[in-house]
Amino acid sequence: MKIELNENKILFNNGTSSKEIHPFWLRERVNNEEYLDKKTQQRKFDPTSLETNIEVKSAKITKDILEINFNDGVNSKLKIEKIIEEFSKNDFLIQSIKREKWDSKLKNVHKFEYLDDIFESREMYDLLIKFYKYGFIIFKNVPTEENFIVKFANQIGSVRRTNFGEYFNVKSVPNPNDLAYTSLALAPHTDNPYRNPVPCIQLLHCITNDVDGGLSTLVDGYKVTEDLKKKFKKYYDVLTRVKVKFKFIDKDVVLENWSELIKLDENKELKQVKFSPRLDFVPILEKKELDLYYRARNKISEMYNSDNYKIEFKLVPGDLMMMDNYRLLHGRTAFDLNEGSRYLQGCYIDYDSTEGKLRHLKRKFDI
Ligand SMILES: [Fe+2]
Repeated sequence: MKIELNENKILFNNGTSSKEIHPFWLRERVNNEEYLDKKTQQRKFDPTSLETNIEVKSAKITKDILEINFNDGVNSKLKIEKIIEEFSKNDFLIQSIKREKWDSKLKNVHKFEYLDDIFESREMYDLLIKFYKYGFIIFKNVPTEENFIVKFANQIGSVRRTNFGEYFNVKSVPNPNDLAYTSLALAPHTDNPYRNPVPCIQLLHCITNDVDGGLSTLVDGYKVTEDLKKKFKKYYDVLTRVKVKFKFIDKDVVLENWSELIKLDENKELKQVKFSPRLDFVPILEKKELDLYYRARNKISEMYNSDNYKIEFKLVPGDLMMMDNYRLLHGRTAFDLNEGSRYLQGCYIDYDSTEGKLRHLKRKFDI
C-alpha cells in the first residue's frame, strides 16, 4: 500500500490498483496548529462550513510526508503512514486479534495475579489481548472487599449501570426476581438479552464460596455456532434469520428487545450470540418455519449444554472473572446452601471500556 502522485492528483495504490483520493478528504485532515487541536486531535474548524469544490493545487512527497497546497490557500503536511492506516477499513487493533475458538478441551484457563497498579501496566495490555482471544480472563487475589468490583471496573473503563444498580449480588435470597439468586443450577446462558443494547462484558467477583458445588461454567458461543453451521446448516440459517423477543419484567420496569439467537454483522460474520430460553418469545410464524426454529433451538441448546463444549471450574474468594457476554455463555452447577455460603458480586462494562483501555495502553507503551 502506498501513496502516489499523478500531477495534482493524489493516488492510493493498494498493490493491484490505484485510485484517486478525494481532495476534500485530505483537506479535512489538515493538521496545522490553527486547524487541529494537537491534544484532543479534534478539528478546530467545522468541515461542513467549507466549500466542497476543494482541489489540490500542488503536492509533493518527501520521505514519509505528503505536502499539499489546496486551492483555498491552506497548506498542510500529512504523514503518509497515517493516511495508509485510515485506508484499512479494519480497526487494526481489535479486529486483528485472532479469536481462538475453544471447547471443553481448553486446558489453560487464563488466570492472572491481580496487582494494585495493574490497570496502567504493560501486563494489562497483554491481558486484554487474551480477553479478546478467548473471550474471558480471570484475575486472582483481587481484594474481597464489598463492592470492590465497581472500583475494579471503573479502572478499566466505566461501569454500565442497569436497573439492578451499578452492581449485583449473586447469592440466594428469599423471593428472588431472577433464578440467579437461588441455589439452583443455571444452564449456560447469556446475560440480559432483553436490554437495548445488551451489556457487552460481565465481571464476576467471588467474595465467599464455601460450597462444594456451584462450579462456574463457560461455553464458547463462537465455537458452537461455527460447528452448528458446519453440521446443521439449516438450523444455523433459521437461528440467524428469526428474531425473537426477549423480555424481563419487574415491579417498576418492562424490558424488551428483539434479536436473532445468532446475530451476524454486515459481512455475515458472527457478531453476537444470545441464549436465555426461559425468557425468549418467538413470534407466530408459518408452522413449517416454527417447526424448523424449534428443532434448531433444541439442537443449539443441546450443544451449549454438552460436555463437549463446556468448561467447569470453581471460583475461589478473590477470583474475578471477566467474560464477553456477546461471545460466551456462562452458568453454574447447583449447590447446597447447608454447606455454607456462595457470594459473588457482578457488574457490566461495555466494549468501549476494554477497547479504550487497550488503545490507550498501546499508545502509552508504543506497542
Ligand atoms: Fe448470568
